[in-house]
Amino acid sequence: MATKKTISDFVQMRQRKEKIVYLTAYDYLTAKYEEKAGVDMILIGDSGGMVQLGYDTTFPVTMDDMIRFSAAVRRGAPNTFIVGDMPFLSYQVSDEEAVANAGRFVKEADCDCIKLEGATDEICQRIKAITGAGIMVMGHIGLTPQFAAQLGGYKAQGKTAESAKRLLESAKKLEEAGAWSILVEGVPAIVGKAITERSDIPILGIGAGSYTDGQLLIYADMVGYYDNFTPKFVKKYANIGDVLQKAFSEYCDDVRSGAFPEDGIHSYKMSQEEIDQFIAICSD
Ligand code: KIV
Repeated sequence: MATKKTISDFVQMRQRKEKIVYLTAYDYLTAKYEEKAGVDMILIGDSGGMVQLGYDTTFPVTMDDMIRFSAAVRRGAPNTFIVGDMPFLSYQVSDEEAVANAGRFVKEADCDCIKLEGATDEICQRIKAITGAGIMVMGHIGLTPQFAAQLGGYKAQGKTAESAKRLLESAKKLEEAGAWSILVEGVPAIVGKAITERSDIPILGIGAGSYTDGQLLIYADMVGYYDNFTPKFVKKYANIGDVLQKAFSEYCDDVRSGAFPEDGIHSYKMSQEEIDQFIAICSD
């Protein structure tokens, strides 16, 4: 069994130019299979609100939802570095709330670090407060869904030279505030490359090209499970949705036709002696 990687392992992987493999998970079973596959790092993303709970956006997700998901992931992947994603309004309001909520991920779900979105002065202040309390922070810039209103919707960022330059500045701000790594989402590959080259900390990418130190995907996108919408940057490795739908349809057919269950195969046995006694009791 592989030992759990640490932040210093990820820093060394960056130095050795070894890619960091990062996937989301929200439940025990998925986390278990990801750990068996050798994933380096698991994000319990607030995308769980859409993938797991069926919301249209991540805004309704609560801290309690995230703690429930995170604790289940930890049970499934006890030897993997896990990152708890702070949901909307769990860190924006004040340093005190941000530290208390970040602490819940560590105390109640055994997370190794937390992630939060944005790079405004207020967010940098939150990062200082959370790291000051001894909790490691992963920043997140680019297409940050919790700031969709300011970004003009859910669209790729850094597509003009000016906005790409602002992303470079944001990455520097997060690093200076104490983030140990940054997730860059939904930017052109050249911008992902520039951020990675100019940073001294691990840069993870999702839809940010091939140059970042590691790659993240939402697991339900890459296995063809979540089919409401699939971003352009996703590569599909399976079609789990089709597999499930086929299995469920065959089960419907079998139950309706009487083909399932088959007595003697899908049922418990009773000894002939007990059967004889049972028949005698029933006929009394
Ligand atoms: O919630 C999440 O899964 C995320 C990724 C989309 C980056 O934050």
